[in-house]
Order: sequence, then C-alpha cells, then structure tokens
Amino acid sequence: MPWREQLIQQHRNRVTAKTWRERQAVQNAAGRELKIKGKTYLNFCSNDYLGLANHPALSAAAIKTTQERGTGAAASHLICGHQDIHQELENELAAFVGAEKAIAFSTGYMANLAVPQTFLERGDLVLQDRLNHASLIDAGRFCEANLKRYRHLDFGHAKTILLKSNANKKLLTTDGVFSMDGDQAPLHELTEICRQTETLLLVDDAHGFGVLGKTGAGSLEQHEICVGDGVLMLGTLGKAAGSFGAFIAGDAVYIDSLLQQARSYIYTTALPPSVAAATRAAIEIFQTEPERRNKLNSNINYFRQAIANLHLHLHTLDSKTAIQPILLGDSETALQATKLLQQRGLWITAIRPPTVPEGTARIRITISAEHHQSDLDQLIDALSSDAMLALAEPSQ
Ligand SMILES: Cc1ncc(COP(=O)(O)O)c(C=O)c1O
Repeated sequence: MPWREQLIQQHRNRVTAKTWRERQAVQNAAGRELKIKGKTYLNFCSNDYLGLANHPALSAAAIKTTQERGTGAAASHLICGHQDIHQELENELAAFVGAEKAIAFSTGYMANLAVPQTFLERGDLVLQDRLNHASLIDAGRFCEANLKRYRHLDFGHAKTILLKSNANKKLLTTDGVFSMDGDQAPLHELTEICRQTETLLLVDDAHGFGVLGKTGAGSLEQHEICVGDGVLMLGTLGKAAGSFGAFIAGDAVYIDSLLQQARSYIYTTALPPSVAAATRAAIEIFQTEPERRNKLNSNINYFRQAIANLHLHLHTLDSKTAIQPILLGDSETALQATKLLQQRGLWITAIRPPTVPEGTARIRITISAEHHQSDLDQLIDALSSDAMLALAEPSQ
C-alpha cells in the first residue's frame, strides 16, 4: 500500500478505536475557567496547581525583561545565550531545593533525555517504574544502555533487578508523582536500594515541585531526602511554577557533566530571558505565599473526602495529590464521560491508550488552589449524577 494510503488507514483505525487525538483552541488565559468555542467551562485539567500561570507578578517580570532584553536568547547556552538571568535562576533553583547546583533546560522532556545519555554507556542499565512518564521512557529508549522496567511502585522488584545486574553503571528513574495516576513513588525505599546497589537515582518531580514538601521543594523534601549524594532531582517549570522549562539539580559534579555532555542542553537555543524572569518570580511566590499550597491541599482533601463520603461506584485511584483520575476502562466510555461533564460546564480531558495502558482509559481530574469550594461541589455533583455512574458501572 502506498505510504500516504497507509497513513490514511492508520487514521481511520484511530477514529474507530476512539483514540484519534484532537486539540481544542483555548480562548482565554490559564486559570480556573477555560473558554472554548465561545463557551466557558470550569477547568479541571490544567497543571497550574497554584494559579501562577496568569499571576500578575510573573507577567510583570516577563514584560519587564522582554522590554529590557528582547524576545529571544539568540543562541544556545554555550555560545552566547546564557544570560545573567539564567544563571540567577539556576542559583535560586539549587538553593530552593537544597542542592549544590542546578541546570535549567528548555523543557522537561529534554531534561529527561539528558540524564541517561550523559551518564550511561552501552552495557549499562537504566531501570524504570513501568508507569514512568513518556519522556523518561523515551530517555531510556534513546540512550545506549539497556532499558528495564519494574512493576509500578514495586521496589522489591526493582531491587531484584538491580542485584542481578552486572552492569557497570546503573540508573533508576521514577516519577515523584505519577502523572496519570497521581500516586507517589516509594522514595525512602528506592533511595535505600539505590544506595545499597550503587545506583544513581533520578526523581522526575514534574508534579511535586512547588506543591509538595514543607516549603514546596517537592517529593524529596516531603520524604526528607537530600538532593545530591547519588540523587538527582528534575523539576518542570510549566506546571506549579506557571512558567516554562525545567531543571535538574544535584551534586555539582553531576550537573557539570550535564553541562559538558547533555546534547538536549548543548544543541538548543537558551530559554527566552523573559521566561527565566517569570520563573524567578514564581520561586519567590513559592517561598512567600505558602497559603497557595495550603489552599491546594484543602481543595484536594475536600474533594477526596466528599467522594469517599458519597460511596459512589467510581473507580478512583489512591492518590493524595492534585491528580485525581477516575478509571473508566475503554476509550469510548472515557470520551462519553468528558462530553457529559462538558454539558455540565466542566472541562476534563479523557486520557486514553497509548498514554495509559490498554483498558485503563480514564478522566484525569486535576485540582488547583484557584478552585472555589463551589467549583468542587459542581464537580462532585456531576460525578455523582446517574448518567456518570451509569458510565462508570462496566469497569466495576
Ligand atoms: C512526569 C513528567 N515529566 C516530564 C514532563 C515533561 O515536561 P515538559 O512539559 O516541561 O516537557 C511531564 C509533562 O509534561 C511530566 O508529567
């Protein structure tokens, strides 16, 4: 079959399997509401956990820096794109998460690619939780080391694989908060196993940075584990920080190696200085406005408690974080659920294979500090409607 015809056939198959992906053009700024095709919905699917993506302090920092420095960094970091603003951002990120040094990347995807590629060679081992984010899995696939995966959260399985391995260098990577399930990695156990087996640990804390831990430094802070000494932390800046980009923090020797060798750092244009400035404003808010984290936590608790009290036949997952999925099984049911919720003024995306394993399509609710209690009540009301419960029934 000619190439183009094959593609058309693939598209048809996706449509039939209800896995055809579509984008929706949003017509307003990030926040608790989404405007799509002229209609306004409550937004229960963004990663703007603290409501910073449209915060005046971040916008003001970005505007001021754009006026002073223009729109682009004009080169990669090692040529002449690395501005003092990037340097200050890295220093502040390192100090905030308690690491010796940090390096800022253009995206979390690129930061994840950097780690195995920099530290591992042919014959080495990269071991991953089965439900790690796609960017970590790709990082393992694209490097020269052998990729193995352990059962989700099963640190015993991880230990067995590490003890059996005769690889020269070993890297274990895990999401801190799992992006599609909202549950958390057993970091105490994983850190201990990595220490015993001389394995480098990378914690991708895209969904923990800014929201978890006493000061918002993330999952490692929450578990009282230091960044450095065999532990690298990755944070993304496009989620709770309301900006864009990512960073890796750790022992200075490891961060220096990334600067020397990481292809996804070296061969790309530096972040616009205005973006780095907006992120610096976000880090200040993390430190000065803990009430945002408190509000997020009380919203999460309110939602979880209400759902538990109602004893609904919904397949919720054991998540204590802002990510609260409801499993529906097949893709068509998940799509029907999103339509139903849209009719009730709520925007929640269906997550379908291949993003999640076959048979575990879901709606993925994300909660923000921006939500009012009445927003959560509206959501709970819609989830407990007869129509929604009828959809949820087959997955019981
Ligand atoms: C766990 C996790 N890691 C990495 C990324 C990638 O980060 P970025 O959007 O900055 O590329 C995401 C989401 O996008 C994520 O959820």
